[in-house]
Amino acid sequence: MCGIVGYTGSRTAPALLIAGLKKLEYRGYDSAGLALQREGTLVVAKKAGSVADLEATLNRDLEQVTVGIGHTRWATHGRPTDINAHPHCSCGDEIALVHNGIIENHQELKDWLAGEKGHHFISETDTEVLAHLIEEFYEGDLLVAMRQAMNKVVGSYTVLALSAREPGRLVCTRQSSPLIIGLGEGENLIASDITALLEHTRKTKILEDGEFAAITADSVEIVNADGAAIETDIFEITWDLEAAEKGGFDHFMLKEIMEQPDAVRETMRQRIDREKGKVKIDDLGLSIDEITALDKLYIIACGTAYHAGLVGKIIIESLTGIPVEVDVASEFRYRAPLLKQNQMVIVISQSGETADTLAALRLARQKGLKVLAITNVVGSSVAREADHVFYTWAGPEIAVASTKAYLTQLVALYLLGLYFGEIRSYIDQSVAKELLEGLIALPGQIREVLSEASIDRLRAYCRHLAGWESAFFVGRNLDFPVAMEGALKLKEISYIHAEAYAAGELKHGPLALIVEGIPVIALATQKAVLDKTLSNIQEVNARGGAVFAITQKGFNDVAGQVDGVFYLPPVNDLLAPVLSAVPTQLIAYYAAVERGHSIDKPRNLAKSVTVE
Ligand code: AGP
Repeated sequence: MCGIVGYTGSRTAPALLIAGLKKLEYRGYDSAGLALQREGTLVVAKKAGSVADLEATLNRDLEQVTVGIGHTRWATHGRPTDINAHPHCSCGDEIALVHNGIIENHQELKDWLAGEKGHHFISETDTEVLAHLIEEFYEGDLLVAMRQAMNKVVGSYTVLALSAREPGRLVCTRQSSPLIIGLGEGENLIASDITALLEHTRKTKILEDGEFAAITADSVEIVNADGAAIETDIFEITWDLEAAEKGGFDHFMLKEIMEQPDAVRETMRQRIDREKGKVKIDDLGLSIDEITALDKLYIIACGTAYHAGLVGKIIIESLTGIPVEVDVASEFRYRAPLLKQNQMVIVISQSGETADTLAALRLARQKGLKVLAITNVVGSSVAREADHVFYTWAGPEIAVASTKAYLTQLVALYLLGLYFGEIRSYIDQSVAKELLEGLIALPGQIREVLSEASIDRLRAYCRHLAGWESAFFVGRNLDFPVAMEGALKLKEISYIHAEAYAAGELKHGPLALIVEGIPVIALATQKAVLDKTLSNIQEVNARGGAVFAITQKGFNDVAGQVDGVFYLPPVNDLLAPVLSAVPTQLIAYYAAVERGHSIDKPRNLAKSVTVE
């Protein structure tokens, strides 16, 4: 999820590119850079930090430059440093390019280019491989060279390049990542999304997967992978800037809920070997002996990440046989935990900057334990200080209420459980294969849960829910942490006082709060405890509570016992938390919309709690 922008025309390129990158910073903001064409050479300015930090370094003499490309980065491979910032250049600095996405076979290409072809690499990124690969095929026409080079590439990408030898010409391509050409008067632009184009033009051409384009100030040439010309319609943009930044959704939170199929798929990409039926995360850096020797795991986190840890406990214990203790970081730090050898701490943090989680990480390391971090931000404090890092690839999460990052944290915990379970020979191969296939099916199933019919159903329920000042979420086994996360979501953006309880606990006190019509959202996705959950639902019904159940298609005993029901696609019970979280997110969102609250920035809350 990086931001890409290009300009060719007669106006000052640096100022235009910087302004465009600032519009794209919500897509990634850990480093930025420009490559500018000046009198037959390329001038590259790039550094870690914000676009404004980059802007402050630009010399005024660059104001004469009228052609260039720019990039603001969301790191996936390689820490956010000056060297790893885009653009990246060929050996002779004749070609510079920027990239958004992941090159899956970058190591194989790098070995070939550095070995047989003698190319010299300076960064840790997968992107730099593209610059040298295009250079390898370059014979004076950047469009031809890019077509030949990308034929060797596997992955998802948007690439924008320019050559010192082709004045005024930009060349680009895309595969599973957005790229839009803006058509101006005596100038043309390229960007990873329309927010960077809107102040200049509303006339655009949308590049499709596998297509290539070469643009100059007064021409746009679009071809397919074979070089055959393609006619593309002009698309008039009607969105305003704010709508464009949210991809046309009303709020970042809804946009990020809708991005979950892709976020889950990206987090699993390259980490599942379907042929062998195995998880492959050897880059974690944990040895087989270390994994085999583990006799206890602690999962430490805050808020939503903590709820992911509670799901993770059940998953990892059942897949590995390793006892798991889960704690909120602010408690773990002060309860003198009995940390011993052969134990490991897993910290989970979307931002990687949560003060309590960071402090818990430091405590564990002071006690001599290894720490594995699950985080969404490359180069974050947690990532830098942990011994091992598992990155979720959810892309930037802007809304304070965490959704796509949470789902990818769950996926990370499933993958770790399968990986450890396989290494410890604890898990039956057939079970592992069934779970892996189930994981691979999740993006499609999440998309099914996000269907228009589903949303209409949940939105109708929220019109009822929004009128209440308190509500309950209940569930058993894996449904209980899902209930906790659902209650947090509803609390933090609709301000309805939602409580989560283990369904079996209701009769031990909370049942006293069940009054006529009070909303009770019951998670009922676990076959093994379904009958017990149904009897708890009957306890609520008997006292007038209005139960809305989230269950699986095929659980036919539920509908007749509740006031409303939402069906998930049939799923392995162990994987159900990934799907059942989605309707609870949508319930929180639409209840908050009904109540007219600020969605992306709820009162009193911050996206990253960097204070204790
Ligand atoms: C989640 O919706 C909340 N915004 C909050 O609980 C969050 O999960 C918590 O602050 C932890 O943040 P982190 O994952 O960045 O460490």
